[in-house]
Amino acid sequence: MNTKTKIAGIELDSCILNASGPKDATMEELEAIANSASAAIMMKSCTIEPREGNEEPRLYVFPEGCFQSMGLPNLGYKKYIGFAPQLKKFKKPIIASLAGFSKDDYVTMVEAFQRSEVDLIEVNLSCPNVEGKPIVGYDFEQAEKLLKSFVGLGEKPVGLKLPAYYDMNHFQQMAKLVLKYNISFLTCINTITSLIINPETEATVIKPRKGIGGVSGTFIKPFGLSNVRIFYELLENKVSIMGVGGISTGTDAFEYLLAGADAVQIATTFEKEGPGCFERINNEMKEILKRKGYNSIESAKGKLKYL
Ligand code: SIN
Repeated sequence: MNTKTKIAGIELDSCILNASGPKDATMEELEAIANSASAAIMMKSCTIEPREGNEEPRLYVFPEGCFQSMGLPNLGYKKYIGFAPQLKKFKKPIIASLAGFSKDDYVTMVEAFQRSEVDLIEVNLSCPNVEGKPIVGYDFEQAEKLLKSFVGLGEKPVGLKLPAYYDMNHFQQMAKLVLKYNISFLTCINTITSLIINPETEATVIKPRKGIGGVSGTFIKPFGLSNVRIFYELLENKVSIMGVGGISTGTDAFEYLLAGADAVQIATTFEKEGPGCFERINNEMKEILKRKGYNSIESAKGKLKYL
């Protein structure tokens, strides 16, 4: 069974890779991903300056998922540019993830990564966890200004990590920008802004931002699937899509392929299970594809049936 896929023309040996977020901020963590069956090495979203992130406790793990307000703890973009040549020996695509606080931040980082040894650049327009940093993906005017400033700064494919949308008008506005600025790939979706309360203590379960954070895991899968499907249709299969949200089994990954994803990213399951999850999910997905008579990722992609 051939599970190769392509994201914006870059070949991946399988369609399962880590998502930016868990366990991908240090060289040690990135090497663990490189040594796993993850099809690519996705880095933690970086900022211009290194960041400690938000106050602890900032991560709450529960049976169905994770809830966090990490606040972009990372080593600063220059470190990740420095890591890329060392990660090249693993012969897998390297994906940088960038989260700026201003237009200048995005321009500086996109320019720098365009000159680096990474293969793809994912621009995070959807982090919900930093005080004073709005989710740019929900502000279409601001998003357009940003896209205008950083597209065309180099030849490497640039994609966007988007928040979940719920309204067709919002999907259409973002799809229009994606086509206008030749965005090469989309990653749908980031965590969903939420609140979890401990009824015993009557308190929030995380400290930052009065307990508001981003939730991930099983129950965000339907949101991820709808976002992949709607963009797949609006973009008429012209832009690669990576699905993320609630993937813990091969069946979940298969559903994302049917919706129109070219690849899927794993966050919560990687956080909980460790790097063995990539091979397990890939094997489970291959079994399903085989049983259903699909012989490639491409042959299953987008094949969702309507009643
Ligand atoms: C974080 O570090 O707060 C998570 C990053 C994100 O949600 O994009």
